[in-house]
Amino acid sequence: MDDHVFYPMLRKRYPVIVKAKGLYLWDADGKRYIDACCGALVSNIGHGVEEVNEAIIKQLREVAFTHRFKFTNRPVQELATLIADLSPGDINWVTFMSGGSEATETAMKMAREYYIEKGKPSKYKIIARWQSYHGNTLGALSMSGHIGRRRRYAPLLADFPHVPPAYCYRCSWGKKPDTCSLECAAEVEAAILREGPDNVAAFILEPVVGSSIGAAVPKDGYLQTVRTICDKYDILLIADEVMTGLGRTGAAFAVDHWQTLPDMLCMAKGISGGYAPLGAVAVRDHIREAFSNGSGRFAHGFTFGGNPIAAAAGKAVISFVLDHGLIERSRATGAYLLEELRRLAAKHEYIGDVRGLGLMTAVEFVQDKISGKPFAASQGLTDKVVGKALDRGLMLYGAGACADGVSGDAVMIAPPLTVSEAEINEILSVFEDTLEEVFGR
Ligand SMILES: Cc1ncc(COP(=O)(O)O)c(C=O)c1O
Repeated sequence: MDDHVFYPMLRKRYPVIVKAKGLYLWDADGKRYIDACCGALVSNIGHGVEEVNEAIIKQLREVAFTHRFKFTNRPVQELATLIADLSPGDINWVTFMSGGSEATETAMKMAREYYIEKGKPSKYKIIARWQSYHGNTLGALSMSGHIGRRRRYAPLLADFPHVPPAYCYRCSWGKKPDTCSLECAAEVEAAILREGPDNVAAFILEPVVGSSIGAAVPKDGYLQTVRTICDKYDILLIADEVMTGLGRTGAAFAVDHWQTLPDMLCMAKGISGGYAPLGAVAVRDHIREAFSNGSGRFAHGFTFGGNPIAAAAGKAVISFVLDHGLIERSRATGAYLLEELRRLAAKHEYIGDVRGLGLMTAVEFVQDKISGKPFAASQGLTDKVVGKALDRGLMLYGAGACADGVSGDAVMIAPPLTVSEAEINEILSVFEDTLEEVFGR
């Protein structure tokens, strides 16, 4: 590239996007892209929504920045109320930051501080799952179980324990849904006992796994069992809903599908729909009480936490989701998308699994449908599918290395919650052409 930006892929040329509206983006050469994955499951209400633009401009005219140690501001107060109202149970308290990694990092530190406030300072470890992604800062990456993203930084990471994920297509115990006894949930208890409950502060999970497996939905009962285990050993349950939060899966939060109340909910991406950098951690009454009855302070935070512009964007995006019934819509159109993907899978023997919830779906590719044998990682199939789709003007989200952290190929299809069935058909038509080009059949 002939500019001064330090891009992530240094040998690649990035199209310059100059316009976006609804489901589509356009580059400087006039090429149109269908946003079938909301970038990275971010643009949940689509691009260029005027109500949101107006709300941001209005806020800009009033005040663009307030420092959180000295002041609060109206958009932050109103957004916190909106999130508290949408969150399950007594999740009533919200702290803000600028993205997902900052949210999970905050939850990690808050869990640690919570037990200091409660007089149990030995509790600091966070148990997480393999094939998970909680973000790129060192704390978030220490919790993440994404081997590829951890590898280069391994010497810098905290030594947090990991357990196998609830990945039913590739169950670590070789079980099928009808023979499963939630061994993956029992393993959480085994890990707590191995580490010693007095050393463990929290268990973190993505209720529906994002791009490190691709829309992996746990079996019914998993979330509830894990909640019971955490209660038994006085361990906090952190739900990382950075991808799933605010309607993506057809419920306000994915935990709602299993009536499970976590102690902390991390969110980002969809809460501001890409209109501004925003993240949040929402917590239950007992968490805030530990601080308010204890030292009276939570020391951790970021300069841009509680930014009024970002909060105004978040408030406008969430209001748009609610006013247009997009959570319910995501459930209905998601069911249609899943059904159509299953139809596609029946036609192509290299599609091993189709899964998802609401408008968070994924397709996993295999060498052999019966055994589920993945393609060799060296074939780079996920990147090939994503790249060829982009050539055809279709944006997909890669979920490579899904099988075991090294091999395995999947892509996510997760369009804006506003998507219509006709637009889904348009996405699937280009998707099928892409697959036939890559797999030659
Ligand atoms: C589940 C989950 N948690 C955390 C993150 C990190 O968010 P961010 O990239 O905004 O820091 C991501 C990003 O993809 C995610 O999917």
